Amino acid sequence: MRRSLVMGNWKMNGSLAANQVLLEALLAKWQGVHKAEVAVAPVSLHLAQVGQLLSGSNIQLAAQDASAHASGAFTGEVAAAMLSELDCRYVIVGHSERRQYHAESSELVAKKAKAVLAEGMVPVVCVGETLSERDAGQTLAVISEQLSPVIALFGASLAQIVVAYEPVWAIGTGKTATPEQAQAVHAFIRDQLGAAGEQVRILYGGSVKPANAEALFAKTDIDGALVGGAALKADDFYAICRAAD
Ligand code: G3P
Repeated sequence: MRRSLVMGNWKMNGSLAANQVLLEALLAKWQGVHKAEVAVAPVSLHLAQVGQLLSGSNIQLAAQDASAHASGAFTGEVAAAMLSELDCRYVIVGHSERRQYHAESSELVAKKAKAVLAEGMVPVVCVGETLSERDAGQTLAVISEQLSPVIALFGASLAQIVVAYEPVWAIGTGKTATPEQAQAVHAFIRDQLGAAGEQVRILYGGSVKPANAEALFAKTDIDGALVGGAALKADDFYAICRAAD
């Protein structure tokens, strides 16, 4: 039985003051989320503060990226070991914004995922097609290309990852994949993962909101969500977490 997971990806938003307001509001209404796992991913500079604000709660800490390198002359990068020191449980890798704006290849994403796992954290590997790729009927081929270096590099430890399916055309656009569209791709991803597939949690991301969360979570292969914009609003994020519970 896979435990649901809802993760808030705050992207490059927040400030020390705003994080405190958001988390105080969230924790004030945090009565009943017991079955689903929940995590939030602030920018790495804010991890220590957010970790402190979350201490004593069952909301876990996540990071938005990690270096594929262990340490050394990599200006601006953050090593997985540094994230682990701050008690991160999850690290997002290969978000489409990293692939698009930082030219991250699927091979690099796989190496980042491996570096995260080596430090005892769970990599959340993001995959997803653009609108033109979907329109050209290439969705499954794109997903397969993005996943294959991870599958090749992980071998027997594949069961320890989380995958997030985030169609690029649904991110921040208000256009959600229908539950049926998402389910079809999630089932394909599970199949691609082979024997590990049944254990791997596959999250959906892309304009998840309180209004659509329940229908998405009702699908067999949708094990939770990676939430962007709605994770910055305490009421909305709480409602999505409740829907997964
Ligand atoms: O990682 C979450 C994400 O890219 C989805 O963003 O704003 O469409 O929920 P949003």
